[in-house]
Amino acid sequence: MELIDGKKVSKEIRQEIADEVRQMTAAGGRQPHLVAVLVGHDGGSETYVANKIKACEECGFKSTLIRFEDNATEAELLQCVGRLNADPDVDGFIVQLPLPKHISEEKVTEAIDPRKDVDGFHPQNVGRMTIGAPAFVSATPQGIVDLIRRYDIPTAGKHAVIIGRSNIVGRPMSILLSQKGIDCTVTVCHSRTPNMQELCRQADIIVAALGKPGFVTADMVKPGAVVIDVGTTRVSDPTAQRGWRLKGDVDFENVAPKCSFITPVPGGVGPMTIVSLMKNTLLAGKKAIYK
Ligand code: GUN
Repeated sequence: MELIDGKKVSKEIRQEIADEVRQMTAAGGRQPHLVAVLVGHDGGSETYVANKIKACEECGFKSTLIRFEDNATEAELLQCVGRLNADPDVDGFIVQLPLPKHISEEKVTEAIDPRKDVDGFHPQNVGRMTIGAPAFVSATPQGIVDLIRRYDIPTAGKHAVIIGRSNIVGRPMSILLSQKGIDCTVTVCHSRTPNMQELCRQADIIVAALGKPGFVTADMVKPGAVVIDVGTTRVSDPTAQRGWRLKGDVDFENVAPKCSFITPVPGGVGPMTIVSLMKNTLLAGKKAIYK
């Protein structure tokens, strides 16, 4: 069994990005500029956004955080999106999800200029990605593809089973893995799939992205399978300084010995998600997707 070290790979990629930014600025170019918009004070979102801002510094990007209180209106947020769309100093921006219930995530996402949509959530980017055209690709699935590539994990003709059909992870993951060049045969499982255990047992690659800690157990995994764990649920842990720890969707202790490769939580997919956002921001800064 080989542990897939997302922390190490993400550090390498961050270094590559920082090198490229140094060359760009030395040649008289601007630093890429990412803006993060955060509404409210959700603990998880605060942490994610803080990590994104920190990663910007490490990559040599300019970054700006715009905060709104929980009671911000949809109109205020849409106005902010409009301003960022029009600001030539901003290469890319994200609106951290989830948003408070009174604000439509769909409306806000669709208001973002696809050329600045470094999250890859706008339908235009999702559509482009689906047909294999240049697009900003959702960060977590892109990070998983990068991990698979950096570890030289064979994918052609392999059966990939994805658990979860979210717009952010499961669905784009299923499209990327079936694309030419990756060439997996893909099964997408979800809450209405009756024979999930059996399907998982047939998988060469499992991507668990359903948000249920420890859901994938050893009896669901074929010996030699590759297991990618996207889960990051906070579970209470009185021995941890913060009183909680992150737990993945995979019963790591019992599943790991059966695998050829497995991602840990934390330190697997998580760090790759942030570095993928940095890659997209660099692409936005270089106007490399929409020319
Ligand atoms: N919430 C959870 N993951 C993400 C992400 O990748 N981008 C944004 N904007 N919100 C999120």
